[in-house]
Amino acid sequence: MSPEMVQELEAQLKGGNVSLWEKGYYAFLRQSVLQEHQERFPLFSYDYSKRVVLYAWVSSNILGDGPIDFLEFGVFRGDSFLRWLALNKHPQSRFFGFDTFSGLPERWDAGRSEKGCFDAGGKFPEVSDPRASFVPGLFQDTLPPFAARFEPQGRLVLHLDADLYSSTLFVLMTMNRHIRPGTVLIFDEFIAEDEFAAFHHFCKACLRQWRILAARRDLHKVALEITV
Ligand SMILES: C[S@@+](CC[C@H](N)C(=O)[O-])C[C@H]1O[C@@H](n2cnc3c(N)ncnc32)[C@H](O)[C@@H]1O
Repeated sequence: MSPEMVQELEAQLKGGNVSLWEKGYYAFLRQSVLQEHQERFPLFSYDYSKRVVLYAWVSSNILGDGPIDFLEFGVFRGDSFLRWLALNKHPQSRFFGFDTFSGLPERWDAGRSEKGCFDAGGKFPEVSDPRASFVPGLFQDTLPPFAARFEPQGRLVLHLDADLYSSTLFVLMTMNRHIRPGTVLIFDEFIAEDEFAAFHHFCKACLRQWRILAARRDLHKVALEITV
C-alpha cells in the first residue's frame, strides 16, 4: 500500500468506527474467499432449529458408518452434541465436549451476547452413552494437555460452535497437530469477523487448504474438509 493510500485510510478512520471498518473488511474477504471455492456442494435451506439437516448429510455422505472422533467446542446444554451422538452409532466412536459450562469467556459483539451468556450452570448435558465425555474449563486451559495426549482413532470431526474469534482460533491452532487431509470441520456461525476470520488466519498460518462439503444457503453454517 502506498504512503498516500495509508494517509487516505487514516483520514477515513479518524473519528470513525474502527470495528465497523474491520467488520466490512472481513465481510468482503469472506465473500471473496468463498467465491474462490468453485467446487459443487449441496446448499440447504433451514432455520436454526433444523441444524441436524447439515449434520445428517455430512454423517451419511461423508463419514458413513465408520468410527469417528467427534470433538465439539461449545456444548452449552448439549443440543448439537446429542444430535451427533444419535447420528453415529459406531461403538468405537468417541465424543468429547469442551466448554466452560459457565458461558462465554468474553463478550461476543456480532451475537450481541455478553460475557457469561450460554451459562449451563456448570452442569454437563445428561448423557448415558459411554462413548461421550466432557472436558470442563476454558479451551485455553483444557485443550493443550488434551491435545498433547490425544491419539485419534477414527476420522476426526471438529464441531466449532464457540462463536468467538479468540476461542475458534485457539482451538484450530492447538488441534493443528491432529488435523489431516480428510478432517471434517463444521462451523455453526461462519460469521465474517469471528469463525470465518479465525479459520482464514489458521489456514494462512498452518498452510492449510480446504473444500466445502455442504452448507446452509447463506453460508453461515458450513461443513468443510481439509485437503492439505
Ligand atoms: C453457542 S454456545 C454452544 C451451543 C451448543 N453447541 C448447542 O448446540 O446448543 C457457545 C458455547 O461456547 C462456549 N465457549 C466459548 N468460548 C469458550 C472457551 N474459550 N472455552 C470454553 N468454552 C467456550 C460457551 O461457554 C458456550 O457454551
